[in-house]
Amino acid sequence: MLNLIFSLLFVSGWIFVSGSEVHTVTVQPGEDVTLQCSNISAYPTQTDWFRVVNKTKPSCVSSMYGSDSEASFCHGFGNRNFNMSSNVSFVFLQIKRVDLSDAGLYFCGFYISGHTVISNAVELRIQGKIGVNDIFICSYAFV
Ligand SMILES: *[C@@H]1O[C@H](CO)[C@@H](O)[C@H](O)[C@H]1NC(C)=O
Ligand SMILES: *[C@@H]1O[C@H](CO)[C@@H](O)[C@H](O)[C@H]1NC(C)=O
Ligand SMILES: *[C@@H]1O[C@H](CO)[C@@H](O)[C@H](O)[C@H]1NC(C)=O
Ligand SMILES: *[C@@H]1O[C@H](CO)[C@@H](O)[C@H](O)[C@H]1NC(C)=O
Repeated sequence: MLNLIFSLLFVSGWIFVSGSEVHTVTVQPGEDVTLQCSNISAYPTQTDWFRVVNKTKPSCVSSMYGSDSEASFCHGFGNRNFNMSSNVSFVFLQIKRVDLSDAGLYFCGFYISGHTVISNAVELRIQGKIGVNDIFICSYAFV
């Protein structure tokens, strides 16, 4: 786990994460952060970001279709500082000016062959708040 944390690259408030396991990123309140997950779909499809907070509360954050459609935001996220985008290889979720309530486990799902398949997960910790530890996602059927 430690070497995963050390593999994070911090560039002026932007954080890039690579790989397919659960990574942890830690930021200070007020910073911007960009989470990313690998695009595991071979074709354009419904792509979603999800979040679990307090270990038990999952919610949908945002969705887009393929790599260049406009993202739509789920209830509670549309008026916040969230931005979903993609460069085809990776799907990004930028959160501007994070606050403590943004902490949680973020992961994205791709609707592939009738199932929502989860790509990698990223745990976002906000300094000053204890993060969620060791949550394992087996499968989610949000559809
Ligand atoms: C998570 O737990 C904290 C502390 O109990 C609480 O203040 C917060 O509202 C909870 N968040 C959600 C989304 O339920
Ligand atoms: C969202 O991110 C994309 C890609 O980085 C960028 O082109 C776009 O301007 C951003 N939108 C907002 C509202 O920040
Ligand atoms: C997509 O973004 C990743 C992470 O920022 C970067 O490493 C990669 O080169 C980008 N790919 C393209 C095609 O721009
Ligand atoms: C994922 O990659 C496939 C194949 O290149 C592409 O068609 C699709 O639009 C990409 N999806 C996203 C969300 O970038």
